[in-house]
Amino acid sequence: MSATSLVLPAGMFSTKEQEQVRDLIQKFSNQQLQWLAGYLTGLQHSNQQLLQLINRIPVTQESITTEPLGGQDSITVLYGSKSGNSKKVAKSLHDKLIARGFTAVLQDMNQYQPNRLKEEKWLLVVVSTHGEGDPPPAAEDLHAFINGRKAPALKDTRYAVLALGDKSYASYCQTGKDFDTRLAALQASRILERVEADVDYEETAEVWIDTVVARLQETFSGSVLKTAANKQGITTNGAATHKPAIHYSRKNPFKSIVLEKVQLNGRGSAKETYHVELSLEDSGLSYQPGDTVGLWVENEKSLVDGLIAFKKWDPNSIIIYKDTPLTLFDYLQQKAELTTVSGSFLSAYVPYINDPADAHALKNILADKQSLSSFVYGRDIWDILQEFPASITIEELTTVLLPLQPRLYSIASSFQAHPDEVHITVGRVQYKNKNRIHRGVASNFIADNLEAGKEVNLFIETNESFRLPEDGDTPVIMVGPGTGIAPFRAFVEERAETGATGINWLIFGDQHFSTDFLYQTEWQRFIKQGTLTRMNTAFSRDGRNKLYVQHRMQQNAPELFKWLELGAHFYVCGDAKRMAKDVKQTLINIIQQEGKLSSEDAHEYVKQLIKKGRYQEDVY
Ligand SMILES: Cc1cc2nc3c(=O)[nH]c(=O)nc-3n(C[C@H](O)[C@H](O)[C@H](O)COP(=O)(O)OP(=O)(O)OC[C@H]3O[C@@H](n4cnc5c(N)ncnc54)[C@H](O)[C@@H]3O)c2cc1C
Ligand SMILES: Cc1cc2nc3c(=O)[nH]c(=O)nc-3n(C[C@H](O)[C@H](O)[C@H](O)COP(=O)(O)O)c2cc1C
Repeated sequence: MSATSLVLPAGMFSTKEQEQVRDLIQKFSNQQLQWLAGYLTGLQHSNQQLLQLINRIPVTQESITTEPLGGQDSITVLYGSKSGNSKKVAKSLHDKLIARGFTAVLQDMNQYQPNRLKEEKWLLVVVSTHGEGDPPPAAEDLHAFINGRKAPALKDTRYAVLALGDKSYASYCQTGKDFDTRLAALQASRILERVEADVDYEETAEVWIDTVVARLQETFSGSVLKTAANKQGITTNGAATHKPAIHYSRKNPFKSIVLEKVQLNGRGSAKETYHVELSLEDSGLSYQPGDTVGLWVENEKSLVDGLIAFKKWDPNSIIIYKDTPLTLFDYLQQKAELTTVSGSFLSAYVPYINDPADAHALKNILADKQSLSSFVYGRDIWDILQEFPASITIEELTTVLLPLQPRLYSIASSFQAHPDEVHITVGRVQYKNKNRIHRGVASNFIADNLEAGKEVNLFIETNESFRLPEDGDTPVIMVGPGTGIAPFRAFVEERAETGATGINWLIFGDQHFSTDFLYQTEWQRFIKQGTLTRMNTAFSRDGRNKLYVQHRMQQNAPELFKWLELGAHFYVCGDAKRMAKDVKQTLINIIQQEGKLSSEDAHEYVKQLIKKGRYQEDVY
């Protein structure tokens, strides 16, 4: 394509500008244009359209090199990821560096030898935050190392950090912040300020990648650069490559139809757990066992009505939210996070509190992670407005409230077994606090509104760190009490469907055998078929003493250790606060006891299981 045949986007350039662009392109050699393309990639967010234009510039194959840059120190792209987002970003950065001719290695923190740090000249870190401001399991060791006394001086290291997180958590992007500040404290030099990316991380990540690459290109000037021609589905001859018709995502969810909803608990149970089947037909969506599905829902009418009446607001008053006029009622129902309270909300709310003593008390709570976590548990926004009266207008409130977030559910089905469907297992969250019944937004929306034929917006989130072993012969131990059973229904279905020959052991727990044995008949069928080799149950309220899954593990310690020694992968899903911790500790005790090891060696044994991906958690 010559510059004269270049088609410029209609209405974007004046006639004079069109001439200037064509002149410019004619003046430059192909090599110069390629350099410009790379440079503009880095600036793409400030000049997206021009980048697209440059991307259309023809490139001769001879001028593209895949040779590493001579004399360039290797760049390490290091990621710490749980559900796979940071891994995806790191991989994309690595691919781009390689495509530009850099020597670069992609490295999972889980597999990284910390003492290699001091040798790193160029370190690009992508890391998420989990738990309550904690590193993802894969980053725990390296995080501890850089914060420990053995951390070396890193005078020769240049680095950049992209932190992935979720603004609704009090410790937003904490792990990324920790890496950034510790690397600086160890005298490494930033090539770029830290960038933090919220749940819709893709765009920010893409900009970060391009900026990092551009910065490195500037540094290694004189290098032979690849063009940005493959970007955005444009090939070197200018033709568009295949693009999927619609890509459904968190931002662009799929409108799914509810196929079925069944209450899994029997009459008289204290629990309400629902099995929900959702259609994926015509969505192009698929998933693997271990993945999660995100649901977008809205707040209950009674909660919104109550809040408006309490504040004596007019539900029909119009507010502008993200440039769109909405009634106050619609805003509160559809857009605002009302049933959970976060540190970010409280920090933004404090300045409006009437009584300075109240504001001071809240600030103290905010300053301590533990206090904050126990303070917000069981409170909703209405509680805060009631307990801490404030002079805040509706408009101000809209800037203080956080956007309503989708809720995630472990997928309870195998796509192989149920093509075009996704199943979930949802427990209704309902509790009394300050004489008012509080009801979780999503679980109650699902329980009360999602009947067969109704619609709900969903998206799939991959969870790379919760996967069946690649080898179907490998034994699997699954511990999933309550709704923690969900992914194991997917695991067992998948193993049955794929004819995997590995032995499978499921340990399930709940309150009562007669009312709470979730999916009982399905497990019986799998046992009969031989897919489920072993199943233990722990019904905590059927006997005189409380009996939990970890007690069943302990009772079966010799067998469990034998399975581990046979190479079993161990999985735990469900409650993060107590259950997962107790299960892990029990596993360590069993290994110590059965392996006749010291406590230290038993801890190391589990650490190695984690490192090898043989101990995996999906806890919440
Ligand atoms: C990766 C992942 C997988 C998950 N998988 C599942 C799954 O398979 N099944 C499932 O049911 N859930 C699952 N969850 C949890 C799910 O995402 C929701 O958090 C859960 O359904 C509650 O959401 P909600 O909107 O109903 O409640 P929210 O509106 O989010 O309210 C929850 C809040 O209520 C308060 N609260 C809850 N219980 C009590 C109580 N007993 N006493 C006092 N206060 C309380 C706490 O402050 C809590 O933060 C998963 C979460 C994650 C992150
Ligand atoms: C259970 C759970 C806890 C989380 N805790 C935090 C947190 O404390 N702070 C934060 O910024 N993000 C938190 N996040 C959000 C993740 O960091 C975010 O989803 C990120 O994109 C995950 O990236 P990864 O797939 O690379 O792990 C949490 C997510 C989950 C599922």
